[in-house]
Amino acid sequence: MTYTSFTVRTPIVTGVPRHIAIIMDGNGRWAQCRQLPRVAGHAKGLDSVRTIIEACVTRGVEFLTLFAFSSENWRRPVDEVSFLMRLFIHTLEREIANLHTNGIQLRVVGDLSMFEARMQELVRLAEAKTATNTCLTLTIAANYGGRWDILQAARKIAKQCVDAGTIQNINELNFAQHLAMAYAPEPDLFIRTGGEQRISNFLLWQLAYTEFYFTDVFWPDFNDVELNKAIISYRGRERRFGRTSSQLTQQSQTVDDSLSC
Ligand code: FPP
Repeated sequence: MTYTSFTVRTPIVTGVPRHIAIIMDGNGRWAQCRQLPRVAGHAKGLDSVRTIIEACVTRGVEFLTLFAFSSENWRRPVDEVSFLMRLFIHTLEREIANLHTNGIQLRVVGDLSMFEARMQELVRLAEAKTATNTCLTLTIAANYGGRWDILQAARKIAKQCVDAGTIQNINELNFAQHLAMAYAPEPDLFIRTGGEQRISNFLLWQLAYTEFYFTDVFWPDFNDVELNKAIISYRGRERRFGRTSSQLTQQSQTVDDSLSC
């Protein structure tokens, strides 16, 4: 049997990741190293959030996704959970005008029904206010879990199939359109700070072809210089999406030729 090669659409790879997704880990340990309460690490972590948003805008990153609160984080001590909720609300109240002025679109993904009404309302207002901004799309994952996301997409598809009376129409493309982040391309670069090397139920579907970067640096110490290290590491990767190295060389030659026309 002769196999013919077929064309699969793969993302265009450039030196700047279009989409960066981050697990901001190490806030508690950062604080404990300084004999401070764990929540002091979260408060300091917010400074790093601001720094990294600015750094992404400067570099032309189009999508930044931050894992702020996982579905499993409810298991933390009650005081820490309430501190984080107050911090989120306070941040939404204080920072939205600034994000809007800087052309940043805010999205929040996750099961928000678990959050108090005030926070849900603030999220709705912030998303509406910034909806047409195009400089950077900042997604905050809150009460988010990758398995939750896949399940909620599966439920929607199942309902469509029941309504249509057929399962013929399920494929990767239309499945992905039901995921919470259907508006964004899949992450090019995934960063986890704080020394652990796992995904922790983050964007399980979307990280299939993402480049991973792990650093021991705690999130409150993660800054512009540390982001550069991650991007330099990313630039050294060969993103093959299942192809061979020589196919990639031919493809980049074709792109170069068409650009020089
Ligand atoms: C993980 O560190 C961090 C969190 C669960 C919370 C992240 C929150 C922020 C960075 C603050 C503000 C963010 C927004 C978007 C308003 P950890 O507590 O698990 O640290 P550890 O592993 O050292 O205990």
